[in-house]
Amino acid sequence: MDRLKGKVALISGGARGQGAAEARLFVGEGAKVVIGDVLDEQCRKTAEEINSNFGANSVAAVHLDVTRAADWRAAVELCERQFGGLDILVNNAGIANMKGIEQTSEEEWDTIVNINQKGVWLGMKSAIPAMRRRGGGSIINISSIFGIIGSSGSAAYHGTKGAVRLLTKAAAVQYAPEKIRVNSVHPGVILTPMVDVVPRSQLQPIIEMAPMKRAAQPEEVAWCVVFLASDEASFVTGAELVVDGGYTAV
Ligand SMILES: NC(=O)c1ccc[n+]([C@@H]2O[C@H](COP(=O)([O-])OP(=O)(O)OC[C@H]3O[C@@H](n4cnc5c(N)ncnc54)[C@H](O)[C@@H]3O)[C@@H](O)[C@H]2O)c1
Repeated sequence: MDRLKGKVALISGGARGQGAAEARLFVGEGAKVVIGDVLDEQCRKTAEEINSNFGANSVAAVHLDVTRAADWRAAVELCERQFGGLDILVNNAGIANMKGIEQTSEEEWDTIVNINQKGVWLGMKSAIPAMRRRGGGSIINISSIFGIIGSSGSAAYHGTKGAVRLLTKAAAVQYAPEKIRVNSVHPGVILTPMVDVVPRSQLQPIIEMAPMKRAAQPEEVAWCVVFLASDEASFVTGAELVVDGGYTAV
């Protein structure tokens, strides 16, 4: 119940999907949470829903485009002003497409790199000074199994998620002396709006490749993020936590 009691978290891409699931579990474990997203209306509704279930003033919503430094500054300021500090950052926002090397336009490449890769760096850069003021913190960067293994049709996504994996380790090494832990999470197929765009006939064979032969609910990733955010993971940094039903074990 109280695994995150007294902690304040900022979750990017928190309007829906895995980010919203993390916000619900974090609040259930006693944290105060700011969720940021470009989907302002949905973000506000998610915050309202959580506040009505857990008591008002547990979650605040903020407009956050992860590619914009000014938005990150405002989100971190909100954490400090409304909840008194920042202890946990979940760099969860991300987008995907299913295009190979030659099929990807320069504009598509830049968009994915800006959101999935630059957004994670900007988030850490913006949050770390606030964590330093608290004497430490935990950063969880959401990568993917596609940040570990390749496939034929998501070139820019693979590139960015692989970058998140090593950016995480670099940050873990740099900030260990300041008691800021940094870990990456690598989900397999998770049933969120991100995969809704893939026709079920194309998705099913991918799902079947995992030894568990199923996709996961967003909460199954979110519980792992709770662990990494909590003091239970006090000696865990620079790690990559795969949550994929065995997909990458084969
Ligand atoms: N669903 C999967 O199968 C799967 C698998 C592996 C990794 N992931 C990763 O998990 C994370 C969460 O994805 P999800 O499955 O919940 O999908 P989702 O599409 O439901 O959620 C992603 C959220 O990010 C937000 N977002 C997009 N661009 C943004 C921006 N510029 N600034 C702020 N927010 C922005 C979206 O509005 C959305 O709310 C992503 O990083 C994704 O790459 C998902």
